[in-house]
Amino acid sequence: MNADPEVMRHFPSRLDREQSDAMIDRASARISSDGWGLWAIEHNGEFLGFAGLSEPRFTAAFTPCVEVGWRLARPAWGNGYATEAARAVVAYGFDTLELPEIVSFTTVDNRRSRAVMERLGMRTDPADDFEHPSIPEGSPVRSHVLYRLRPGDERRMS
Ligand SMILES: CC(C)(COP(=O)(O)OP(=O)(O)OC[C@H]1O[C@@H](n2cnc3c(N)ncnc32)[C@H](O)[C@@H]1OP(=O)(O)O)[C@@H](O)C(=O)NCCC(=O)NCCS
Repeated sequence: MNADPEVMRHFPSRLDREQSDAMIDRASARISSDGWGLWAIEHNGEFLGFAGLSEPRFTAAFTPCVEVGWRLARPAWGNGYATEAARAVVAYGFDTLELPEIVSFTTVDNRRSRAVMERLGMRTDPADDFEHPSIPEGSPVRSHVLYRLRPGDERRMS
């Protein structure tokens, strides 16, 4: 999406155009088949990024689970779009899908993503910290924090 190093410092590698397009195709297919997934965030006709629900494919102490996640193009940061979109996603997860819990996780020092989780009312517990099994040992982005949210605990407005 963007060459700004700040955008990528919490990810193992950058998607090239082909991988990015393939990810959007997978997200669209999932929404077509299941009715939910990673939705596009659009503002004034411009594609800003995504927010949505997914099921992590790796195995960890907290899986199987449904995760809320987000990613915005760098110029769209700092406007509240991720939190606004994530609130709608969480409401859908609890009200329509009747999920018993939604989790989210990120690298320990991804301050902006953790701030979105906290604005949603999600809570973290050091006992849930984990090393991401899909990221190689020794990588600086392997250590993750887990946040959890149960129905009724979500903050719908700031
Ligand atoms: C994580 C990510 C989506 C967060 O983006 P963000 O812009 O910081 O988050 P929000 O959209 O919720 O915006 C919140 C900011 O907008 C500000 N803001 C401005 N106008 C606002 C408004 N009308 N309403 C709410 N917030 C507003 C808030 O004060 C806050 O600013 P601050 O961080 O300086 O305190 C973004 O950093 C990103 O895409 N990062 C790369 C991908 C990534 O790490 N994804 C997560 C992997 S787990």
